[in-house]
Formats: sequence, C-alpha cells, structure tokens
Amino acid sequence: MRKNIVAGNWKMNTTLPEGIKLAEEVNAALAGAEPKCDVVICVPFTHLASINNVIDKNKLGLGAENCADHKSGAYTGEISAPMVASTGATYVILGHSERRQYYGETSETLREKVRLALDNNLTPIFCIGEVLEQREDGSFFEVVKAQIEEGLFNLDAEEFGKIVLAYEPVWAIGTGKTATDDQAQEMHAFIRKTIADKYGKEVADNTSILYGGSCKPSNAAQLFAKPDVDGGLIGGAALEAASFMGIVNAF
Ligand code: G3P
Repeated sequence: MRKNIVAGNWKMNTTLPEGIKLAEEVNAALAGAEPKCDVVICVPFTHLASINNVIDKNKLGLGAENCADHKSGAYTGEISAPMVASTGATYVILGHSERRQYYGETSETLREKVRLALDNNLTPIFCIGEVLEQREDGSFFEVVKAQIEEGLFNLDAEEFGKIVLAYEPVWAIGTGKTATDDQAQEMHAFIRKTIADKYGKEVADNTSILYGGSCKPSNAAQLFAKPDVDGGLIGGAALEAASFMGIVNAF
C-alpha cells in the first residue's frame, strides 16, 4: 500500500551553515519519534553532501529540488541526476511550478529529467497544479491531467510505480491561501483515477499523492485526514524544525 510522506522543499533558502543546523534540528526531533509517515527534506544542491553526513537516513530522507535534463557534458552551471545521487540523496523534486514558470520547464524536458532520475535511483516528487486563472475558469482538471499525461505517461507501469506526485495549486503556494481539504480531496481523487485509467487500480492505489500549498501545522491534520491525500510537500513551514515537525505529527 502507498506510503504517507511529508517532504520539505526548502527552495532557495538557508546558507550552508543555516541549512546544516536546520537539518540537525529535524534529525534530532525525529530521533526519539515514531512518525506515521516517511519524512524527507529537499534542500539546495550546495547543502546535499554536508547534510547527508549529519542525518540518520533511516529516519530522514534527503532530496534535491531539481536536476538537469542531461546526464553530463557541456552544460555550465547544471547539476545532473548522477551528481545528485552521488551525494547520498534519494529523492528529487521535478516540475515544481516555480521551475515551470520562471525557468521555462516543459513536459518535454521533464520527461528527460524523470528518466535520468529513475536511472539513478532517485525517487521523483513530480509536481503538478493549476494557476489561479485555470482554477477560476474551471479548466483545472484538464490542466492537471495534461501535466500528468505529458510528463509521465511515457513510463511503463513499473517505472510509474516509483513516482511520488505532489498536487500544488499554484494559487496556494506561499500565499497563505490553502486549498480546502475538500478541494484537495477532489483533485487527488481525480489524479488517482487518471492514473488508474492508464495503469490500473493497483498502481493508482500504490501511488503517494502529496498536497502542497500553504500547508502548516494548523491545517495539515484536516488535509491528511482525506482518503486520497497521502501527505504534504511543504515550503515555508519546512524552514523551521518545530513547524515542520508539527506537520509531520499531524498524521
Ligand atoms: O513545494 C512546496 C510549495 O511550493 C509550497 O510552498 O510555502 O506554500 O508551503 P508553501
């Protein structure tokens, strides 16, 4: 059966010393705890190797926030999936709306990134979600369906089984405006049906679908109580150990 997961996305926050301190705090908080979900932190590339050395990987997973769409070569400034994997990280966020919006990521480049992530034993946390205009004009189901079809449906069922999905309505990211638990459930159920129609019920039932967008300790329990919400991808509230753990403990 699918796993519950709470993953932090630190985005472009924390210097290396600050990041190590935050990772150590989360690690310490997990030491005596028995959370009812897997816990992951996705951190800037510059932090991966150092943080890998200070956390207990049995309790806390480590991931990157992106990887390149090429394996190696003349791509100045890029970080490849093999490089990420060589730090000890085992997750990678792909297709975050900030990357789609500000860095022109397309489904085509995302297919390459997913392929390279899987080839290097990284679990992709693949982000999908509509912008406010699409929520308001009612096209949000078809937008999310197209993102899944175009980014992931080239995979076979075994490969798809390695993907974690994160539904992040763009209008809820960093805005303080959370999707209601019913809005999240409605979309998560739709995503699971979309997967079932392509790969069958078993694959769909085994896929973890996380919610992201202004998730915090005060609303996490309500969101996670919904049957198709299998955890969260957490931005702002992951930058403080206490609030991140508040969300982890919402399960
Ligand atoms: O990937 C996490 C995310 O985009 C949500 O950010 O700050 O609204 O929790 P935030």
